[in-house]
Amino acid sequence: MKRYGKFPKINSSEITSESNYLNRRTLIKRAGAAIIPCQFLTKNPVSASSLDLSYSRAIDSGQGFYTSETKTPLEDVKKYCNFYEFGTGKTDPEKHSHSLTVDPWSLDVQGEVRSPGTLHLEDILSSFELEERIYRLRCVEAWSMVIPWIGFPLSKLLARFEPKSSAKYVEFRTLYRPSEMPGTRSLFGSIDWPYREGLRIDEAMHPLSLMAIGLYGKTLPNQNGAPIRLVVPWKYGFKSIKSIVSIRLVRSRPSTTWEKIAPDEYGFYANVNPEVSHPRWSQRTERRLPNSLFNPRRINTKLFNGYTEQVASLYTGMDLRKYF
Ligand code: MTE
Repeated sequence: MKRYGKFPKINSSEITSESNYLNRRTLIKRAGAAIIPCQFLTKNPVSASSLDLSYSRAIDSGQGFYTSETKTPLEDVKKYCNFYEFGTGKTDPEKHSHSLTVDPWSLDVQGEVRSPGTLHLEDILSSFELEERIYRLRCVEAWSMVIPWIGFPLSKLLARFEPKSSAKYVEFRTLYRPSEMPGTRSLFGSIDWPYREGLRIDEAMHPLSLMAIGLYGKTLPNQNGAPIRLVVPWKYGFKSIKSIVSIRLVRSRPSTTWEKIAPDEYGFYANVNPEVSHPRWSQRTERRLPNSLFNPRRINTKLFNGYTEQVASLYTGMDLRKYF
């Protein structure tokens, strides 16, 4: 990843107390779920505090949903982030993302589906059973973490909108709201906002592809992609797009943010692969966070980030060097 100049300071935002937020959520949950076609709620914006979620615990069923590796402490997950909308420094997202309004929030699903529509955050929270997944996250920059996410399979979300057989790829977009995202206001940046990502439809329907709404048992911290993000554990972290507002099922391969900036460095597939070096560094090893000079915690990187058993069949016959 590259650096893109300096970022201006932002104003502080209004904070609603946790109990107010929780009461509202409880009422909303009782009201039940619905897909509301293409319209937006206009409620008073509130900032989310971390809320407890109820979910089923990750179990070691052999599907890759659980790892017994030591989890990265919550404090490190929250403070060492990549979220360029809030700046390019690792601690910028923690410093600046409190300004992000995550409620109300709408997720629009369009394209090659029989029932296009918009889900509001409250629909999402009341529609899908939440489960924990303890996944490794391997960044293309050669650091990694182990994170207990809370969420639900992307396949369940897509099924609600009834994909057509013409849907070959899925495109995701992050919110683009410069007034709350200082990183997008930089005059020197070369990112064409909004941040975009994409998956092949079979990758999107794979049971490991997760829509996360929480981590460590609570709602997502803003800097980690609140209120809803993607987590694709066998791919480099940049595929795991944060704060998603739009999903489109499409016929041809979508253009994605990092591939557009540097196609020779960041491929569309971005499957974790120690055999395929980044042009500027090796991908053979990774720093498992938190680490330090005296405790480097350097470990070998595994093909598909250790999820080979689960995902290798998606790529049978493909040249992984060419389609990196
Ligand atoms: N999503 C958006 N919208 N903007 C970003 O800059 N960075 C990506 C990914 N999702 C990014 C994003 C990268 S490079 C990584 S490694 C992961 O988020 C990091 O997730 P984390 O900060 O929650 O660990």
